[in-house]
Amino acid sequence: MAGEASSWLFSPPVYVAVASVVLAAMYKRAKSCPVDRRVVKKRSDGETEVSANDQYLAEWKDHLRAGTPAWYKGSSEYWNDQEDDFLDTVFQGEADLNEPDIEGSNLFLDELKKCTELTGELKYGYALDCGAGIGRVTKDVLLPRFKCVDLVEPCERLLEDAKSFVESDRVKNFWKRPCQMFEPEDLKYDLVWNQWVLQYLTDQHLVEWLVRCKNTLRPSGVLIVKENVADAHDFNEEDNSVTRTDEQYRKCFEDADMNVVFQMPQPNWPDDRTPLMMYALQGERCEETDDESESESDNSDNW
Ligand SMILES: C[S@@+](CC[C@H](N)C(=O)[O-])C[C@H]1O[C@@H](n2cnc3c(N)ncnc32)[C@H](O)[C@@H]1O
Repeated sequence: MAGEASSWLFSPPVYVAVASVVLAAMYKRAKSCPVDRRVVKKRSDGETEVSANDQYLAEWKDHLRAGTPAWYKGSSEYWNDQEDDFLDTVFQGEADLNEPDIEGSNLFLDELKKCTELTGELKYGYALDCGAGIGRVTKDVLLPRFKCVDLVEPCERLLEDAKSFVESDRVKNFWKRPCQMFEPEDLKYDLVWNQWVLQYLTDQHLVEWLVRCKNTLRPSGVLIVKENVADAHDFNEEDNSVTRTDEQYRKCFEDADMNVVFQMPQPNWPDDRTPLMMYALQGERCEETDDESESESDNSDNW
């Protein structure tokens, strides 16, 4: 009996099943962990370890600084060529993280809404979703609150998918443009949402983009930044994205003359993931006059 059981245990179908499970787990872990590529640099005073990311970053430094098309080609090719399910790609094989991410965003906006002392009253009029992908955030965070939403996204295929995914006539515009080339109208939006998109912009383009976001906000409007924030600056050569530190983001906010009025780390986020931070930003706060609030309610019927 024991012999029969052990021969079943070591039979080829069982080997294949066990090997598939182990390989799938290894693949998932490899995709979800930051790659720690290290190279050894010899020095006269001994051996020093240098992160390969630093090397890639050094090689790309000039492109990054100048914001050349070569730098942006990396991310546009990555998103154009993706054939996997969008959620699987965004969450690197763990699409079930969509739920805590959406819950965290909704909680953040609920808490922000209570901070009127700091921010002025947040109005749920018109929102802009930037680097929107298929409109995941628009559908489950913005449309349940805001009267109208616009999307801006450079990848044509994703923008087309967004039209059927969000399925709402309250989405007014699907702009096909990267942020570094997008100029939203002044004083148009009550909220601008940037999630996992600022990671593609060079520092200079990021600051310029933040300034344009600041100018497109209405009085008491807010800019939301939801991005991976790590202890060390990191560079992902797979899609030409950079992970910034909290300090680096704050320096860019400061350079754009924007203040963090509220912030919260993403709750219920796995420890093996890069921490995800949510910031709400405002520029110099304009006091609303009676005339402005009147013209705003006039506009709302035209969205
Ligand atoms: C990780 S996905 C995030 C999508 C969406 N924000 C979400 O949270 O579901 C990154 C998105 O940014 C877009 N993207 C890449 N580079 C961009 C750029 N320079 N300007 C605007 N969007 C960009 C990609 O096409 C892709 O849709």
